[in-house]
Amino acid sequence: MRYAAEMRSYLDKVIADLKANPSTDPTILNRMLELQSADTPGMDDLGIRNNILGLLIGAIPTISKASCFALDELLNRPDALKVAHEAALRGDHQVVANTIWECLRFNPHNPVVYRRATRDTVVAQSTLRQVKIKEGTMVFAATFSAMFDSLVIDKPNEFRTDRSWETYIIWGYGMHTCIGAQINMAVIPAILTPLLKQKNLRRTKGAAGQIDSNGTPHPEHFHVEFDT
Ligand code: HEM
Repeated sequence: MRYAAEMRSYLDKVIADLKANPSTDPTILNRMLELQSADTPGMDDLGIRNNILGLLIGAIPTISKASCFALDELLNRPDALKVAHEAALRGDHQVVANTIWECLRFNPHNPVVYRRATRDTVVAQSTLRQVKIKEGTMVFAATFSAMFDSLVIDKPNEFRTDRSWETYIIWGYGMHTCIGAQINMAVIPAILTPLLKQKNLRRTKGAAGQIDSNGTPHPEHFHVEFDT
């Protein structure tokens, strides 16, 4: 809570300083200030601060966790690891990326998205899965199981690297789809490629070779080894 308060004051100061000494640098903050001067809703100083906080919180722990989860899954799948290793060596970004998305389908960072119903409602009206939701109910929409829906995904239990990007709802779905999805598409394969290039990549023996979250929602340690 202390760090949160410090971060809020820090950002307030950065925003105020930039407004006092404007620059034309092509930064996210300058683009937000341009939106503010065009009276865009949600772009007052408080809105800008909240958005930047959202970007910081949304970006750093999520990308590192997803990278660990993808690698963890890949190390359980020697055939897929070989595909990713060879693709990394020949610089085939697309195959590396497809392998990672498939790993995250089996081992997702977010298995659900959650919502609280603001009124009585009916989900999927006039279908077999129609369900009534009472106002105030917490709803967990299981994106994990949706990615194994055999009515939509061809042979969902098979690990395949030829699935389309639309197969994946690793970054949520609909109105609140992750705004970092395109960043993730570029950054996660770039983070893992140098490691995947290594020869005989494997877990370190024992507990060190398993993800250690140290009681937090995010991995803190995950040791792997390779031949030099
Ligand atoms: C592997 C990395 C990431 C994962 C797994 C992830 C996952 C998600 C998911 C599942 C949602 C939807 C939440 C919901 O519907 O309740 C979401 C939303 C969001 N993500 Fe990400 N995210 C990642 C990286 C990022 C990055 C890099 C950024 C920022 C640059 C970011 C910013 C956001 C924001 C601001 C939202 C809220 C969008 C909205 O409410 O309209 N995320 N993310």
